[in-house]
Amino acid sequence: MADKRRFTLFAQFLVDSFPNASRVFDVAGGMGALNEALTAKGRQCLTFDFRHKRLDVPYAEREFKLTEPCEADLVVGLHADGATRLIIEYAALHRIPYAVVPCCSDNSMPYKPWMRYLTELAKNGRLTALEAVLPMEGRARVIYGAPLT
Ligand SMILES: C[S@@+](CC[C@H](N)C(=O)[O-])C[C@H]1O[C@@H](n2cnc3c(N)ncnc32)[C@H](O)[C@@H]1O
Repeated sequence: MADKRRFTLFAQFLVDSFPNASRVFDVAGGMGALNEALTAKGRQCLTFDFRHKRLDVPYAEREFKLTEPCEADLVVGLHADGATRLIIEYAALHRIPYAVVPCCSDNSMPYKPWMRYLTELAKNGRLTALEAVLPMEGRARVIYGAPLT
């Protein structure tokens, strides 16, 4: 069972780490709880996912793709499963900062190799790749960064 504090903890992490990012794409955001937490902190957030039943937040009910027009200063994903790789690729393509809290891989890779893989993916996309840990149960490691100039 994932830690229910993850939304507020990740939202606080994002606000602290990216103080100038006012528009956030929340990819694979499920019900929109991260969106709600970011909105409460004054950020403008758009969630991408497929859920019909969800919170009353700005929501794009569709698959997130690399071709999505980039109207964000930051792209993030919390336990975004198959979209985690996509978030880093999107940040690399559109040259914006990113943050992911990886959970399951999209290719059956165990957690530690998956974390290493994502870090390399970011670096190969000319993004920085730092790591932090949220104070919660379960998959709590964050990979985050910004484009290298
Ligand atoms: C484990 S859930 C996490 C949901 C939410 N972030 C949370 O922490 O509760 C993973 C979500 O990723 C969504 N997802 C996976 N690939 C996606 C994509 N390309 N575009 C949008 N949503 C995607 C699924 O629909 C699912 O809701």
